[in-house]
Amino acid sequence: MTTLKPLLAKNRSWALQRRQRNPHYFQQNVHSQKPHSLWIGCSDSRVPAEVLTGAHPGELFVHRNIANMVVSGDDNFMSVLQYAIEYLNVSRIVLCGHYGCGGVQAAVSLPDIPLSDENSPLARRITQLRKALAPGLAETRDATDESERLNLLVEANVLAQFGHLIRTEPVLNAWRAGGELDVFGCVYDLQSGHLKELIQQNAEGQLP
Ligand code: CO
Repeated sequence: MTTLKPLLAKNRSWALQRRQRNPHYFQQNVHSQKPHSLWIGCSDSRVPAEVLTGAHPGELFVHRNIANMVVSGDDNFMSVLQYAIEYLNVSRIVLCGHYGCGGVQAAVSLPDIPLSDENSPLARRITQLRKALAPGLAETRDATDESERLNLLVEANVLAQFGHLIRTEPVLNAWRAGGELDVFGCVYDLQSGHLKELIQQNAEGQLP
């Protein structure tokens, strides 16, 4: 049997350290939040948004799912996006994929893995991801280096999901209203710990 004890112990130690450095550390966020950014990332345990950006509580509004997907019919995702833009007025959205993404790997392997015989939430989601990656899958079909192919598909996934993101109602509405909202597509490298920008867009258009 497992217990919560190790997590509780680390939590108390973290809270104590924070209070020792700044007695108001927790008080400053108690009554409201004013995050500067919405983070849309993969659920992968190795890509923790706050840790890798050095963010403190109150800085990031976060949505994570398998393979950082943007699906306009997904009320869970869309409600987070709407709330972040319309109520929290974030000025930045960071869509972050990562090399070594198991979701992308599964989408590539889909016809040949047991998941393809299931009708489960996971199987439906990976099938949806495979469809979004179809152009990239075709383009990289003849690649000889499998890990290089996966890296390219991870980047293609960020660009595909970014394309969905900038066509969502909350983003378009913010831009139409003249709101200051910059949207970034990034990829995180598990080996170096570095975040790399792939694409950016604001109300004026796409920046190189
Ligand atoms: Co992933």
